[in-house]
Amino acid sequence: MYFDTHCHLNSEQLYEKRADYVRHAMDCGVDHMVVVGYNLKASELAVAISHEFENVYAAVGIGPEDCLDTDAEELAKLEALLTKPKVVALGEIGLDYHWDTVPPQKQKAIFRAQLELAKKYQQIVVIHCRDAMQDTYEILAGAGVKGIMHCYGGSVEMAQRFIKLGFKISLAGPVTFKNARIPKEVAAKLDLKDLLIETDAPYLAPTPLRGKINEPANVVYTASEIARLRGVSVEEVARQTTENAMKVFRI
Ligand code: NI
Repeated sequence: MYFDTHCHLNSEQLYEKRADYVRHAMDCGVDHMVVVGYNLKASELAVAISHEFENVYAAVGIGPEDCLDTDAEELAKLEALLTKPKVVALGEIGLDYHWDTVPPQKQKAIFRAQLELAKKYQQIVVIHCRDAMQDTYEILAGAGVKGIMHCYGGSVEMAQRFIKLGFKISLAGPVTFKNARIPKEVAAKLDLKDLLIETDAPYLAPTPLRGKINEPANVVYTASEIARLRGVSVEEVARQTTENAMKVFRI
């Protein structure tokens, strides 16, 4: 009944025991998930993993921290993945100004190139945005694609602007953190029809598991906190966010 819209079973930390993580998730009611790529190799792995398990889907893309050497040849290889079975999105892609590893100009060029690919293949996009809200918004406003703001960390007002562009707002473990005033406000105030839930596993384990390796089963904690903040049942949050995810991924 829960849909983890963003996890990395393709990461070094989770890959080897992926079958255990999938089984544990299913046992906990997390019966759908999307494995998200962040470079070419991780994208290829995401596709392979999606073909190993029922109800596990893939997103393929080159993220802002991994695009320093991305060239036309690499983009062509990514393009070839976009039409594989069970690929439901292009991502994660976007801008990340937190680390200084890739110059913003390069990040923007690769981001825009992939938005063009999304348009060409009518895929939705999964957006990674860190310390780059305004630039991300400006690029998406002119892109003509829809998708998901993954692990959203901005304000309610900014969320409304992304929703107007055709984006869903996905909340992860940080909404459960004690001092996360703004994510809690986003969880409480947006229309439930605009929200998705995710783990971003192996990162960002929710309270009470902070600091541990995160896994898809833990998306339940995020759903519970959203339910508490909204004064509704966790079943209601699970049902509506799953329905939203099915719709946006066209499953
Ligand atoms: Ni991610």
